[in-house]
Amino acid sequence: MCGIVGYIGNRRAVPILLDGLKKLEYRGYDSAGVAVIEKEKLYLNRSVGKLHMLEGRINGNDHQARIGIGHTRWATHGRPSDSNSHPHTDCTGKIAVVHNGIIENFLELKEWLEAEGHVFQSETDTEVLPHLVEHYLKDDLLSAVEKMVARVRGSYATVVLSEDHPDTLVAVRKDNPLIIGVGEGEYFFASDIPAIINYTKKVMVLADGEIAVMTTQGIRVYKDGIPVDKKIDIIDWDTKAAEKGGYPHFMIKEINEQPRALRDTLTGRIAPDYSGVELKEVNLTDDEIKRIQKIAIVACGTAYHAGIVGKYVMEKILRIPVEVDIASEFRYRDPLIDENTLTVIISQSGETADTLAALREAKNRGARVVAITNVVGSSIAREADDVVYTWAGPEIAVASTKAYITQLIGVYILTMYLAKSLDMIPKEDMENILRHLYRLPNQAQEILDNLSGQLNEIAEVFKKWEDAFFVGRGLDYAVALEGSLKLKEISYVHAEAYAAGELKHGTLALIVDNIPVIALSTQPDVFEKTLSNIREIKARGAYVIGVTFEGDTELKKSVDQVIYLPQTLPLLAPVLTVVPLQMLSYYASVHRGCDVDQPRNLAKSVTVE
Ligand code: G6P
Repeated sequence: MCGIVGYIGNRRAVPILLDGLKKLEYRGYDSAGVAVIEKEKLYLNRSVGKLHMLEGRINGNDHQARIGIGHTRWATHGRPSDSNSHPHTDCTGKIAVVHNGIIENFLELKEWLEAEGHVFQSETDTEVLPHLVEHYLKDDLLSAVEKMVARVRGSYATVVLSEDHPDTLVAVRKDNPLIIGVGEGEYFFASDIPAIINYTKKVMVLADGEIAVMTTQGIRVYKDGIPVDKKIDIIDWDTKAAEKGGYPHFMIKEINEQPRALRDTLTGRIAPDYSGVELKEVNLTDDEIKRIQKIAIVACGTAYHAGIVGKYVMEKILRIPVEVDIASEFRYRDPLIDENTLTVIISQSGETADTLAALREAKNRGARVVAITNVVGSSIAREADDVVYTWAGPEIAVASTKAYITQLIGVYILTMYLAKSLDMIPKEDMENILRHLYRLPNQAQEILDNLSGQLNEIAEVFKKWEDAFFVGRGLDYAVALEGSLKLKEISYVHAEAYAAGELKHGTLALIVDNIPVIALSTQPDVFEKTLSNIREIKARGAYVIGVTFEGDTELKKSVDQVIYLPQTLPLLAPVLTVVPLQMLSYYASVHRGCDVDQPRNLAKSVTVE
């Protein structure tokens, strides 16, 4: 999704803006641009395509500017083109604006502005913003931006630059992330921390409706015209966390970080005697937990798949009905949620527009909301009643890996927390599950150490195949969904996940000689049933890759290849099963020559509906 950077200070702005935009590339984009003010004149450079195209345009024009804004655009209104790229300017070319979000009433504003004599250059919704500032600008840039905000509906993180105010930046946000980096006599704006972490670790998170005015002399933040005292957070990431560290792609780096991420997410959560879990930011009382009649899990994408695992796990242990919903469906389907529903919101970024809206919908209906999220201080973390943080660290590759695996841990520990209050789990079962959870980081490491050669070889099959199927039952089906999403998003192979027993109701017609089918079979209670389904598939000529635990003697007789996982409890299998599927997709993407970290059309953080 769009990325915003801004700088004001005593260093050259252009290299800082370009460096920041590079760090935001992971969000996904199709064009980029910067605007700077140099010797009291505004200069604009924009280009469709990747950042090197923009750099090519700037190169001949080595600006000495000390103030500027930059943007990577992920097209929503209007195709990717030079003229639709940000920053957008007003009629005079003196005001420049970058924007992330959607201006819902842009058509009506555009008609009105055109009637007032404004001339538009792009097909974007954003362009109404600089024209509105132009319309309202007398002397004071802040008051013009306030008037602009009063006219727009929708979501925005936006930064405004004006040639007539060459030492001021004004920024405002609603439902889109924007952080401010605080340096010595300099300030940075960005959509996300990686863009500024090389320059400062001091960060202010702008809240909805807040407007910030920055000069080299200082920063002022207002809400509804009243000054706000902002707290400065210190980011404890080291800069390396957001870099590739010797790996060819962020995705494989993040896959390899999973043992560490699992360990960090478990640390401090499991009682030393394995009697229960401790969740510091969850404050549900026993009485509140006993009143829960239903659990609603809501999320998007990979986080939604973690939610499906959550349904199986929670229903099995808690015996409370669990619904899992895609956030964009939940928010518009008039959901049956009330004060006796526990809503669990899962989101890596904590900023996904539909998921945030779903959270608000649930709260409006009186539900208690627990968020499982990776980003401290994100909108979802702030608005939820309780939070289970996943400690995956920054995830840069669009395809989610370490975030998913730690979301699973979030689901397990939240379940154990509720189970203890509800007295739904015998002491020895609790101890057994927690002991096995504790072993998962080392077991994930074993998979990484032992299976990459085999998986790299298997992935060669995707050099010639454009289709694949993933099958499994129960928790294996939940992981199959994630495995197939991984493969399609980064290697563009058309992949479908099926509940193994459902395949024969239509999709079996697509099974032809040698088509790759990944068959997950880790659940002992349905092992025989899954095996029968696998035989049906094999009988139609498919090339079947089985996944099961070490010690198997049966599956290997019915498939072409078996991927063996270290033994764990069937309930916890998803944490291990997903790892080879992530690796398989990664190698498939590499073999097919795809852009692993920034797949076409996709964005890391989807902050528009
Ligand atoms: C995008 C990302 C996915 C992610 C989904 C939900 O589509 O590409 O990897 O699963 O958004 O994001 P969230 O940050 O809410 O987990």
